[in-house]
Amino acid sequence: MKTVRFCSPLLLLLATFGLAFVARAEPGPRDRLLLDAGWKFRLGDGWGLGQNLAKAGTGYGPAGLEFSDASWRSVNLPHDWAVELPFDPKADGAHGFKALGNGFPENNIAWYRRTFDLPASDSGRRLWLEFDGVYRDCTVFLNGWFVGRHEGGYSGFRFDVTDIANCGGKNVLTVRVDASQTEGWFYEGAGIYRHVWLVKTAPVAVAPDSIFVFSRFPGNIPAGPAEIHLQTQLANAGKLSVEAKVIWTILAPDGSTVATAEKNTTVNGGGAEEIAQTATVAAPELWSPETPRLYRLVTTVTSGGATIDQVHTEFGIKTVTFDADRGFLLNGKPYVLKGTCNHQDHAGVGAALPDGLQYFRIARLKEMGSNAYRTSHNPPTPELLEACDHLGMLVMDENRLVGSDAMHLNMLAEQVRRDRNHASVAIWSLGNEEFSVEKTKPGGRALATMQDLVKRLDPTRPTTCNADLGNEFTGFNEVVEVRGWSYHIGPDRMDAYHAAHPQQPNVGSEQGSTVSTRGIYANDLVRGYMSAYDDNATDWSNTAEQWWTFFDARPWLSGGFVWTGFDYRGEPTPYGWPCINSHFGLLDTCGYPKDNFWYYRAWWTEQPVLHLLPHWNWTGREGQPVDVRALSNCDQVELFLNGRSLGRQTMKHDSELKWTVPFAPGALSAQGFRAGKLVAEARVETTGAPAAVALTPDRAEIRADGEDISVITVAIPDAQGRVVPVAANEVAFNLEGPGRIIGVGNGDPSCHEPDQYFSTPGLRTQPIDGWRWHEVTDPSQANLPEAAVAFDDSKWTATDVHAESGPLGPHGRAVFRTRFSVSAENLAAPAVEVWFGKLEGDATVYLNGQKVGKGSDPRAASIYEVKTLLHPGENTLAVAVTNWGDAAGVNRGVQLRLVDTPPAVAWKRSAFNGLAQIIVQSTRQAGSIKLTASSAGLRPATATLTAQPAVPRPSVP
Ligand code: GAL
Repeated sequence: MKTVRFCSPLLLLLATFGLAFVARAEPGPRDRLLLDAGWKFRLGDGWGLGQNLAKAGTGYGPAGLEFSDASWRSVNLPHDWAVELPFDPKADGAHGFKALGNGFPENNIAWYRRTFDLPASDSGRRLWLEFDGVYRDCTVFLNGWFVGRHEGGYSGFRFDVTDIANCGGKNVLTVRVDASQTEGWFYEGAGIYRHVWLVKTAPVAVAPDSIFVFSRFPGNIPAGPAEIHLQTQLANAGKLSVEAKVIWTILAPDGSTVATAEKNTTVNGGGAEEIAQTATVAAPELWSPETPRLYRLVTTVTSGGATIDQVHTEFGIKTVTFDADRGFLLNGKPYVLKGTCNHQDHAGVGAALPDGLQYFRIARLKEMGSNAYRTSHNPPTPELLEACDHLGMLVMDENRLVGSDAMHLNMLAEQVRRDRNHASVAIWSLGNEEFSVEKTKPGGRALATMQDLVKRLDPTRPTTCNADLGNEFTGFNEVVEVRGWSYHIGPDRMDAYHAAHPQQPNVGSEQGSTVSTRGIYANDLVRGYMSAYDDNATDWSNTAEQWWTFFDARPWLSGGFVWTGFDYRGEPTPYGWPCINSHFGLLDTCGYPKDNFWYYRAWWTEQPVLHLLPHWNWTGREGQPVDVRALSNCDQVELFLNGRSLGRQTMKHDSELKWTVPFAPGALSAQGFRAGKLVAEARVETTGAPAAVALTPDRAEIRADGEDISVITVAIPDAQGRVVPVAANEVAFNLEGPGRIIGVGNGDPSCHEPDQYFSTPGLRTQPIDGWRWHEVTDPSQANLPEAAVAFDDSKWTATDVHAESGPLGPHGRAVFRTRFSVSAENLAAPAVEVWFGKLEGDATVYLNGQKVGKGSDPRAASIYEVKTLLHPGENTLAVAVTNWGDAAGVNRGVQLRLVDTPPAVAWKRSAFNGLAQIIVQSTRQAGSIKLTASSAGLRPATATLTAQPAVPRPSVP
């Protein structure tokens, strides 16, 4: 193949596309633009897909360029429509009793549309649409073209739309999402619940997810310089070979350049080249949860001296080892995994978390002393990993479904390629509790194939699988590198297995599953609450103390991951309705700690911890015994009731202390001692009645970038400012200024109040009747006379357009016309549409002589936005129809639709045991955001947030 050496990007283009493209502008280096803002959304499926799949670029219904979505709701991504739906006892409890799935066909499918312009200068660039995740199956169209389908709710996917994008004009991206199928046994959301990106590159560019940077040390123990391995793939979408140079620059955490490398290559037209090189970082700063030091790799591609691509990749320098005897080693040293398993939803927003909420959640887990996170049971969104990279949290990155067929291997490969540069990722989990196959030979073979694939793509990290097996060594356990323990605690299983397989490392990939409800101290079958004492485990699981005591005594188990860090929707164990979410969390769905949080904080951190439970609001139970416990890592704890000592007790390692105290109102307090010295104090008091609302933002300053958030604690204090631990007051919110409320919650696992309040545009409709029709010879001719305003149709045949079909017979050709009146007041509506119930046949619509569009889906409504074509007074509507089938015409009625601005919504939420949460997001406007909270009979509160001027992420306008 001929090789060309370029001297400029313009020449590169020339050689790539040929002389016909000389006039095109030079392609710049890569753009990665967020495509989250400005979507239109409609729940329901009024339109079929079949027409769009029959012929390329047909664009029927919402897939088409001419379709009006003016009456659809405006949404920003990430968006989850499941969280907007009501709860329903007939719905699937495992998925949180949302009116979705089996029995709710009207809620299972939704359409999204996004209109955007592309500059003419994008001609010649490669254009990619990247979806980080859609729940669940989706069909994507661009400009009426079918672009692709994706099945699966957790894997990212991308489509190359270079050929069909309209550079220099309007583009319409349409996504039909079908959430009727489930993948998990937990809440999964619905819709485009992760980010979407538009990526633009030169024809020769770094191939998607092909960069891999990793470090090596002798013996996998960091000492001295790090050998950095650099890999990438260059893809050439042009026809001719290209000579290019890849330059790698490594920036230290302080931004200084610490290493560079380069390599020349030739990439054949239509081909791709793998390129690898090594570099040395002399004195690496190692990444760990305690020191999350991040390096940056800049991969630059030049050709003929010009930069044609550049990609920035954050990474960390660290080593991970799972040792059969010593357990997990981080950077060569034993390191106990103090982990939590988590699903991906949060109060208020369901599965659609803004990035800030990922950081919020990881920070809460770190406060508890956790250093590891399992992305059960699916690949996470990339921003979760970014939060873990930056805040310092090791990750067990889990695959969804075990399978060694092409589809599952592709998904696994995509996951590993996408996530392998993240500093936080420590181990790959190939799957979770595959009851049917985990003990079988085929199961073992499939897992081995998956493991081989992962090892080829990432030789630096081990693999595991959370298998629900005891002392069993068939199937998965026989092949997997690190044996994952899903429960099955006990010497007869774990010690016996270790003795029988002394070469295999182990990890407690899923342990705990203790059930508790924040602020509740007695199981309550009616309301669906579990007491928050560390007493309640299910029959397959253990209390916090049971499992942690066992693991803490056995370093070879590497530590483990509690099921779960946060409560999640669905799996309302051990209850059913009215309970709609799980009780496994150490924090509730808002991130408010339950008491067990303090158990772990006591034994997972070094600083003195002392926490007392329960609360001390037991009015009416005076004199009755109360089970009081201290969660602490102090040597000794002394308890006092109203200043009187109830005795000092010595703490057993990994345990808790208990007293039985007859209730008397006042203050229960405790002092914690280490080596006889007072190091910690705790106090719970009987509060007065609710007196006020209090708002405490986690961040009072946010970036005015349209994405940043503040998570605001809503508390109900008494007159002395003490949070009333049983308060359930309903709180109403009002927001003024450049911000928006994106969700409310309270952590109550049985609360059926909405997490979301929204409104859709109002619609005022007027029938457009008085139609006449007449056969013509060529309805498709240019300047169709019968479409003109002044055309005399008085002799035409009157027709009723409300029929189901007709009136045109086979091969009929005709024009339908009517006149209708529009007032100036009508035209003041934000948008005005003409709606046709059904345009049957090959139809073209004209308004006041101007072509509006082609007939859309012949089975569903065709809708056009026509405000700019209308004028006050009489307007003329004409439809030219050619019939290729049995019958054709204008049917099922025609309407003028005045689309009004959606009405304002009023947000509210009740407190649960004294607390609720409201999440506020910035717009792109800087300024002061005032949030007011009020509740009947209570003093209201105001929180002021400052939205600081900020440069939004590069986005599609
Ligand atoms: C496990 C399972 C988790 C969750 C948990 C509840 O068996 O892996 O997804 O269902 O039980 O205890």
